[in-house]
Amino acid sequence: MTITLLPVDAVHADTVRRLDVQEDQTDFIASNAESLAELAERPECVGFAVMAADTPVGFAMYALDPDDGNHWIYRLMIDARHQGKGYGSQALAALLAHMATIPECGDIYLGVTPENTRAHALYHRVGFRETGMMLDGEKVMRLDRN
Ligand SMILES: CC(C)(COP(=O)(O)OP(=O)(O)OC[C@H]1O[C@@H](n2cnc3c(N)ncnc32)[C@H](O)[C@@H]1OP(=O)(O)O)[C@@H](O)C(=O)NCCC(=O)NCCS
Repeated sequence: MTITLLPVDAVHADTVRRLDVQEDQTDFIASNAESLAELAERPECVGFAVMAADTPVGFAMYALDPDDGNHWIYRLMIDARHQGKGYGSQALAALLAHMATIPECGDIYLGVTPENTRAHALYHRVGFRETGMMLDGEKVMRLDRN
């Protein structure tokens, strides 16, 4: 199945809101309802529906953080029913390919909860490394693009 990213506005908001992670993953990421609210409030945030063909299976969001001037992946989630099929890896690759087209995009940052070993491994595999910094209880990882 080919995974693509669609601007989240192209998908019905309720469909995105209904996508949810596994019960034991709820501490790892905000709900999509919260993320959509944040997206509406913060103009720097860019959101995508993760699509498996015509089916929305997840959500991703990045931003140029006005506080530090860096690009951050703020969210990446795949609905519980669709996990383990390679969609998360493909969505991350698509997101990074998209961000690589942003002229002013330098190194890319993200935060991951220490217990979230699966996401940590996913990010590590594509080149993210721990910076040693912690932010709001999350390990900050960076993809060096230089
Ligand atoms: C992290 C997440 C996006 C990965 O999505 P996914 O579609 O399941 O990922 P993939 O199917 O591409 O698999 C990614 C890796 O996890 C492994 N994996 C898949 N299912 C797994 C499971 N049930 N348990 C452990 N590992 C699993 C895969 O083997 C793969 O590793 P590999 O490439 O070395 O084989 C998804 O688990 C998720 O939404 N988690 C909750 C939200 C979250 O934590 N987001 C990150 C916040 S920083």
